[in-house]
Amino acid sequence: MRPTGMSAPTAQASDLARAIEIGPAEIDHMSELRHLHALSARRLAAGMLSEGEIIAFANHIYSEAYSARIAEIVRVRRLLAARLDGALVGTAGWTPANDAGSVARLMGVFVSPLYARLGIGRRLVEAVEAEAHQAGFAVYTIRAPLGAAEFFAQLGYDVASHGVWPLDRDAALPVAFMRKVAPIKTTPKP
Ligand SMILES: CC(C)(COP(=O)(O)OP(=O)(O)OC[C@H]1O[C@@H](n2cnc3c(N)ncnc32)[C@H](O)[C@@H]1OP(=O)(O)O)[C@@H](O)C(=O)NCCC(=O)NCCS
Repeated sequence: MRPTGMSAPTAQASDLARAIEIGPAEIDHMSELRHLHALSARRLAAGMLSEGEIIAFANHIYSEAYSARIAEIVRVRRLLAARLDGALVGTAGWTPANDAGSVARLMGVFVSPLYARLGIGRRLVEAVEAEAHQAGFAVYTIRAPLGAAEFFAQLGYDVASHGVWPLDRDAALPVAFMRKVAPIKTTPKP
């Protein structure tokens, strides 16, 4: 649902959304990726997370462990980037949840605050789900910080449980563990 006070996207906004191109993220753009993730974590989580949680989330994004995880999904071409005139405006990626089975874990779902609510997040997540599905994964999961849970609910994800995401020794983020099963495609009878 659109928050009170927000109007429907204008024609200009939908033209902008159409100009967005989605393709694999490149390893040369790691600093741009980290900057986008930190910016959207700070701005878009405001109001839903405490100041301390937002700072911890942004610090985590600049940690070596986070960079290594993102670099790995970029290397295996499982991180998609949305670009407008070459500028990075969003990302979404996935990884197998474990060695066996058909569960894919979504990660790195971030949209620039300047381009929020234009349908970019939805397009990125749908593109990632389609790639994972193509690779044989029929269940998608996400550890969604509060504030992003409603977005994933709109995309068909159900909350399996609530918990925390330990970011460092002193900070943890409240999250919803969410899950979606790919709809079974039926072929119409002739
Ligand atoms: C969550 C996020 C990716 C959404 O990106 P977006 O491009 O703004 O989302 P979309 O425009 O595609 O939204 C699709 C629908 O989800 C819903 N939605 C999106 N953001 C929402 C929010 N903050 N609260 C409630 N509903 C929301 C809306 O119903 C929207 O449709 P509508 O506005 O047309 O009715 C973005 O806000 C973000 O980067 N958040 C911070 C980072 C984060 O927490 N990522 C989570 C996983 S690591």
